[in-house]
Amino acid sequence: MRVITDMVELRAWAMDHRATRPRVLVPTMGALHEGHLSLVDRARIRAGTDGVVVATIFVNPTQFAPHEDFDSYPRQAEADLAMLEARGCDVVVVPERGALYASDASVTISESAIGAGLEGVSRPHFFTGVCTVVAKLFNLIQPDAAVFGEKDYQQLAVIRRMVRDLDFPIEIIAGPTLREVDGLAMSSRNAYLSPEERAQAVVISQSLDAARAAMEEGMVDVSTLLSRVEKQIATQPLARIDYVAGVHPDTLEPIDSVGDDGLLIAVGVFFGKTRLIDNLCWRRNLSDAG
Ligand code: PAJ
Repeated sequence: MRVITDMVELRAWAMDHRATRPRVLVPTMGALHEGHLSLVDRARIRAGTDGVVVATIFVNPTQFAPHEDFDSYPRQAEADLAMLEARGCDVVVVPERGALYASDASVTISESAIGAGLEGVSRPHFFTGVCTVVAKLFNLIQPDAAVFGEKDYQQLAVIRRMVRDLDFPIEIIAGPTLREVDGLAMSSRNAYLSPEERAQAVVISQSLDAARAAMEEGMVDVSTLLSRVEKQIATQPLARIDYVAGVHPDTLEPIDSVGDDGLLIAVGVFFGKTRLIDNLCWRRNLSDAG
């Protein structure tokens, strides 16, 4: 496994290996867990034995607000590299601090519809930071495909929109959310939780499971579904809800009633200073409709 930290070396690698295809990218911020590694497995399948899997580890400063956890974000480069090597990753790009952005960088990419609600309300600069860094990684690495997790459903949708609207010749592959045994979505930020917070955080996935069950039984009223989710989360004293939203799974616009396209329930919940997100994308199984 080759590790590249210098962007000039990265460009040279991309040129020298331009015939080795497909090239499949997995962008990450490190502190890797099984969720990230499942995306590497997907990338490996897409790349096959002839292609190449490239992962990136970069805690991207432009997607963090000043009050957020950029400085304290978990960093464990050596353990990450060992995990990536064990999963058959071919190349890992770990840009040195300051290597990716010019000090006077003044061009960004912002998406104005898909990213406006949900996370975009709580974190107004977040998706501009994500789009800008992902576009830069696309340009530097020039992948044929890139893999993103459904755990960050809105991020995946924003990236798809950017690729469509800016004509990046890149296939976007989605990977399902990996969960701990009790249902909590795996996240690098789970490491911040105290034992009490960790125990109570399971309520997030439990509330989404209950909403799924209600929809399976025919419940279509979105405000009832959302208030049940809110009430269930609020049973845990350490939980502070940031948002619980019900939106169309493709447009991410709020809807009142679950239609043929289903419903995305997205939640952001604070436990202490730690903000966790999760979602349920429920699609109606139309073959069941008779
Ligand atoms: P990060 O939070 O490190 O996540 C990297 C990728 O792993 C994302 O595509 C995310 O959706 C996916 N992922 C995280 N937890 C997952 C889980 N439990 N199951 C499956 N996939 C999971 O997302 C980012 O980094 C950054 O915003 C990035 C895209 C790298 C841009 O800086």
